[in-house]
Amino acid sequence: MEYEICLEPSGVRFKADESQNIVEAAKAHHVAIKHGCASGSCGDCKGTILSGESEQGPFMPLLLLPTERAAGMAILCKLYPRSNLRLQAEVISGDVWNTEIVGLSKLAWNVLELRLRPEKPYPYRSGQYARMAVPGQENQWRSYSMATPPQDRDELVFHIRELPGGLFSRWLFYQAQCGDAITLGPPQGDFALQDNTRPLLCIAAGTGLAPIEAIIQESMHTGQTRPIHLFYGAKKQRDFYHLETLQQWAGQYAHFTFTPTISDGEDTQWKGARRLLPTVAANGHWQDHEVYLCGGPGMIEAAIDLLRSHDVPHAHIHFDSFAPNG
Ligand SMILES: Cc1cc2nc3c(=O)[nH]c(=O)nc-3n(C[C@H](O)[C@H](O)[C@H](O)COP(=O)(O)OP(=O)(O)OC[C@H]3O[C@@H](n4cnc5c(N)ncnc54)[C@H](O)[C@@H]3O)c2cc1C
Ligand code: FES
Repeated sequence: MEYEICLEPSGVRFKADESQNIVEAAKAHHVAIKHGCASGSCGDCKGTILSGESEQGPFMPLLLLPTERAAGMAILCKLYPRSNLRLQAEVISGDVWNTEIVGLSKLAWNVLELRLRPEKPYPYRSGQYARMAVPGQENQWRSYSMATPPQDRDELVFHIRELPGGLFSRWLFYQAQCGDAITLGPPQGDFALQDNTRPLLCIAAGTGLAPIEAIIQESMHTGQTRPIHLFYGAKKQRDFYHLETLQQWAGQYAHFTFTPTISDGEDTQWKGARRLLPTVAANGHWQDHEVYLCGGPGMIEAAIDLLRSHDVPHAHIHFDSFAPNG
């Protein structure tokens, strides 16, 4: 059964089948509702149901607070129409940024640092991400977080992990060269340093380190001396990158400390901490901290459960989930 969807305040209308979520139905009609993962993990497609019947599919806990649900808010990439609908939803501009690859270097065996120079300023906040068009593939975009604060330089820096069979990451690892062009959409995401003086607890897994590094550097740049502790998880020792950089920060900024952890019990060379979240749980009282989490959706969900059981308020937990593109 097909229904008519009307978006406010733009007044844009399109048809959606009851088996299509609102974001994909809009896309099929060349309407770009703001979204990130398209799989219920990031919260960037939040909208409000103004009228009509719908069914909300499952999404990551904490994306909608109980007060937001009560106010009719919904996760549109998991919302299915059951009647004609009027929705408040952000339609993003078709603005794109042409960029040139100016640096490609290995950070770890399966992680590349990508540096892009945009043709015009790219105004973003530390913690945000960019959607990149996969070169040579029509309508395929992937999301990557900027790894440095905006004031650092006129280049955008990303940490990108290779995924077996990955459309974008394989292109980047095996074909891309300096001088190649990459198109970016506008910066997105609400994952950002909060304006308060609470100590920071940062938890990063894998390339989840990228936006966390941007946020930590931003806090350091502001000259604040609140304590920052980073727990940084990898599967094996060889998967870590930037350990020297973190060591250097710890030497330079007395208030910054970090704990690297690995999860592979067979990596017997490793003398440090093991298992990311149990290490977090065993190493402090986090109720008074502002918490920043970044990594895969499984780690994020488990971390949220852990933090809630340690009485960290909802409002102090901020996360960016590196979910596969839905
Ligand atoms: C907001 C956001 C920010 C992100 N930032 C970064 C970043 O800074 N660095 C980074 O390396 N990645 C980041 N990601 C993940 C990234 O967008 C892509 O999902 C990832 O690089 C895979 O793209 P691909 O085209 O190489 O693989 P695809 O062709 O999309 O997928 C190949 C295979 O890998 C699986 N897969 C895809 N993504 C993942 C994943 N994240 N975890 C596990 N399996 C997966 C797919 O299901 C598929 O089977 C971010 C994701 C989001 C939503
Ligand atoms: S785009 Fe809907 S939750 Fe990420």
